[in-house]
Amino acid sequence: MPIRSILAGCGGYLPERIVTNEELSRTVDTSDAWIQERTGIRQRHFAAKHETTAFMGTAAAAAALADAGATAADVDAIILATSTPDQAFPASALRVQAALGVKQGFGFDLSAACAGFIYALSVADGLIRAGQVRGALVIGSEVYSRILNWQDRGTCVLFGDGAGAVFLRAATAADDDRRGVLSTHIHAQGTLGDILYVDGAVGQPDKPGHLVMHGREVFRHAVTRLAEAVEEALAANGLRHTDIDWLVPHQANSRIIEAMGRKLGLPADRVVVTVDRHANTSAASVPLALAEARGDGRIKPGDLVLLEALGGGLAWGSALVRL
Ligand code: UT7
Repeated sequence: MPIRSILAGCGGYLPERIVTNEELSRTVDTSDAWIQERTGIRQRHFAAKHETTAFMGTAAAAAALADAGATAADVDAIILATSTPDQAFPASALRVQAALGVKQGFGFDLSAACAGFIYALSVADGLIRAGQVRGALVIGSEVYSRILNWQDRGTCVLFGDGAGAVFLRAATAADDDRRGVLSTHIHAQGTLGDILYVDGAVGQPDKPGHLVMHGREVFRHAVTRLAEAVEEALAANGLRHTDIDWLVPHQANSRIIEAMGRKLGLPADRVVVTVDRHANTSAASVPLALAEARGDGRIKPGDLVLLEALGGGLAWGSALVRL
């Protein structure tokens, strides 16, 4: 039988500091009513100085390992999806490797904005299927609060900080052969790079870099592309909408999430929503939502879970996983 990967554990980390819409509206020309009505966001977490991408990624990864009953000795690869790495190098993934006491294997950061976790999951699944690694940590960790333009009310109210992680391991003969990562599909359209981007980078002189977004255009692409990605995932596995137990979507906007749920014919209580409390945590949003719904017992072993995300690039994708 070909090698499959099992999603064996999930974990998340959110910074201690919570910032409500009301608090933001004291310094930004906005209101709780506008933010809630247009996005569903009520609050977000903002990182303190010590809550770096590697710090939060380490905490989420440690929780995922504990959830899986695994240890540092089981980790052959660490793939950390982020648009806000602590340093140009070394990779934040390797800071996590050191902090967890992982002595073997390799790691790297992956840049695919809000689709980063789906991309990283796809790469890790491929490494396991190829027999190159047996255990992989897949992490999304972001500190968007450090790249927001506080003069741009159209974007600065939308994002939050946090990290989520999963531990993937190669299936063994003891595993139910229906379990595992059934498929991943990832896509990109580089010609749309200028509708959602950061206008600077470590390598650019005098440009710290701020997030810029043409929200309406991104919204339009998100609804179309994510619907296509979901149909692609189901078709590839010979499954129907009714087979899905849970949708764990990227948490950018409750209106996009609701549209996806409706397209799939899923009742609202089968769609995991965290955007109200976390806002958009980019690459961290899907694994954070997954960790929450696994942790509180909503998602159970054997459930079929559809993950999807879209972000700057444009980059997007889906993953279908039986827990
Ligand atoms: O994670 C990556 C993927 N990202 C997404 O999927 C995000 C997709 N886009 C969106 O979620 C939505 O487009 C936004 C939430 C970003 C914006 O919602 P919108 O309904 O598209 O609003 P808009 O940008 O068209 O702005 C509508 C109005 C404007 O005023 P006028 O021109 O109609 O007078 C804005 O100036 O709302 C105004 N506005 C605000 N008002 C109060 C924009 N931001 C704010 C604000 N507070 N924070």
